[in-house]
Formats: sequence, structure tokens, C-alpha cells
Amino acid sequence: MFSLGRAFVPAATRAFSTSAPRSTKVAVLGAAGGIGQPLSLLLKQSPLISQLSLYDIVNTPGVAADIAHINTDSKVTGYTPENNGLATALKDSHIVVIPAGVPRKPGMTRDDLFNTNAGIVRDLAIACAEHCPKAHILVISNPVNSTVPIVAEVFKKKGAFDPRRLFGVTTLDVVRASRFVSELKGVSCEDAKVTVVGGHSGVTIVPLLSQVPNGITIAETGAETEALIKRIQFGGDEVVKAKDGKGSATLSMAFAGARFTQSLLRATVGKETGVVEPTFVQSPVMADKGVEYFATNVELGPDGVKNIQGLGSLSASEEKLIEAAVPELQKNIAKGVAFVNGSD
Ligand code: NAD
Ligand code: LMR
Repeated sequence: MFSLGRAFVPAATRAFSTSAPRSTKVAVLGAAGGIGQPLSLLLKQSPLISQLSLYDIVNTPGVAADIAHINTDSKVTGYTPENNGLATALKDSHIVVIPAGVPRKPGMTRDDLFNTNAGIVRDLAIACAEHCPKAHILVISNPVNSTVPIVAEVFKKKGAFDPRRLFGVTTLDVVRASRFVSELKGVSCEDAKVTVVGGHSGVTIVPLLSQVPNGITIAETGAETEALIKRIQFGGDEVVKAKDGKGSATLSMAFAGARFTQSLLRATVGKETGVVEPTFVQSPVMADKGVEYFATNVELGPDGVKNIQGLGSLSASEEKLIEAAVPELQKNIAKGVAFVNGSD
């Protein structure tokens, strides 16, 4: 097995790799897509997964057959909608990762994906609530600020909602922020740790650059800082533009999605303590501003969300960035909630 570095396979996890893993099934919905394929490839390397269950509306048998030849111990199974495939794919899953749905093209916002992806995510969430109601659900499909509330509302209707087990995957924002700071400051990515809070689109992505540790100093204001913030907030657009109509970030997203999944496995199956990842969850942090879901660093534990960290001390500029994110988040979240509750 090749190593993806400490962020993906930490020493504590490698300790499990010599023995057969416990029975831990991870399902990927949208597994044949641009994210789904490399994400499944990366997850095949996790010693904490015993069954990798790949579901898509097309092409999954080929993807599963291909990945199944990799000589790690997990069993790989592939499903399409035929023969009750979704139910079988989900049954007994510990984690379900959802990158199903359409990606952006140049000129589109993530919210422009809502009309197509909201229905896809709602229907997959219904299936999850029916076939694996206790699973941890990791939502990658955009617009994340709306698709996470969609999953929550579906689970609430089924009487199965546990806010500790629903996560919007915002890991790519911190992965990008770390890389951009490391390039700008000429430091290692290991040192360039950036906390990013808020949501996952444009102005709702709020990097807290005043909190970057390890002696890396970033001015509160000025052209360089403004450009850095803009690049972190609109990093997705950079990829959409470069791919020129052929989709959005897939490879860096697969890396980020695998990192988050592996962190959750370390906390839940590996019983490792002190595992912290940023994620968009039902959160008290901005509840007094009418924002029910918000991304911050979250300590993960045996049941999923263990401790939602606060914002820490903010600069005046960061306070303003958060103020700008609030109305957009309120709108995105309300749209997701209304979609489910208006579709009875
Ligand atoms: P893609 O089109 O390459 O793949 C999507 C896959 O979903 C396809 O294989 C398609 O067949 C499948 N699919 C469609 N409907 C389905 C259904 N009902 N059930 C199961 N599978 C279904 O797109 P992609 O590049 O992989 O992106 C997927 C989503 O992830 C997009 O919405 C994109 O915006 C989002 N995304 C999110 C982040 C993030 O940081 N959270 C990052 C990148 C992309
Ligand atoms: C990203 O941040 O790369 C994703 O949300 C995909 C996109 O549409 O930009």
C-alpha cells in the first residue's frame, strides 16, 4: 500500500493494518463519477474499511471490478439501481459518502446546481434513512449549504435524524487554504494550517488567517491578504475555469473526501481521541444569528460529532467576513429545508 502521508494514514491508524479490519462497510453514492472513482480508489487503501460498497446509476460494475483487484483486504462490491441495488449497497453501512450529482460549468454558481442536485440528494437520503438509518452521512454534492439541510429534513421526517451523524464535507476548503498559504509564505503545508469556517460557497467560506499558527504571519488587511482570501473563497472557480466545461474539482476533492472519511473512521472505529476536522454540521455557533448549520473545526468521537469548537478570537476583518456570510447561509439553508418540506 502506498502512503498518502500523515494526513491520510496516521501512525495510530497504520497500527490496525496488519490485522483483518473489523466489519466496517463504507458506501459511496455516485461512485462512478469524477470524484467517486478516485475517492473509492483512496478509500480502498484504508485498513479501517472491510467492505467498500460502490453505487451509481451507471458504470459501477466496471469501477468496482477494477478497484477490487487492488491487494488490500477490503471487499469491493458494485451496484446500480437494478435488482434493488441501492438498498443492498446501503444495508449495514457505517458511513455513506455522497458525491452524486452534477458539477458546475464556467459561469455557474453552486446554487445553480440546486435544481438538479436537490432531488438527487433527497432521494438518496430517503434510501439512507430507510436502509441504514444509523450511518454517518457525508455530503459532498453541491450546493453543500443546502444539500446538508435537505438530508437533515429527510431524516427528521423518518424519525431518524441524529445531528452527530450528518456532515457537509468542507475539507477541500482547508486543504486549499493550507496549500495557498504555503505557496505564498514559502512554508511547508504541514505548518500552514488554516481554520476555515462558515459554509461551502463564495463569501460563506471564511478563512481565519489571524489564527494561522507556527509563526506564519498574515497581515490583517492589504492587497496580498485580500487576494489570498478571495482565492480561498473562490478556489473552486479556478478549477472550473481551467477544466473549461469538463467539470469541477475531482482529484483534490477525492483527496479531501478520503481524508475526512478516514478521520471519521479513526474516531469511530479506531476509537482514536483528539481527531479534529472542519465540517458543516448542525451547530450552535451561529444559532443566535439564525444560522442552523455552520462549519467550524469539530472534534470527532465514537458517535460522530463530539465537540463543536467555537470561532476563537477573530480580527475585525474576520468579523466582517462572517457578517457577510450570514445572510447567504440563511438563504441557502432555508432553501434546502423548504425543498423537502414543500415536496410532500
Ligand atoms: P460527475 O458528474 O463526474 O459525477 C457525478 C456522478 O453522480 C455520476 O457518475 C452520476 O452518474 C452520479 N449520479 C447522478 N445521479 C445519481 C443518483 N441518483 N444516484 C447515484 N449516483 C448518481 O460529478 P463530480 O465532479 O464527481 O461532482 C459531484 C458533485 O460533487 C457535484 O455536485 C460537485 O459540485 C460536488 N463537489 C463538491 C465539492 C465539495 O467540496 N463539497 C468539491 C467538488 C465537487
Ligand atoms: C469546489 O470547491 O471545488 C467544489 O465545490 C466544486 C465547485 O463547484 O467549485
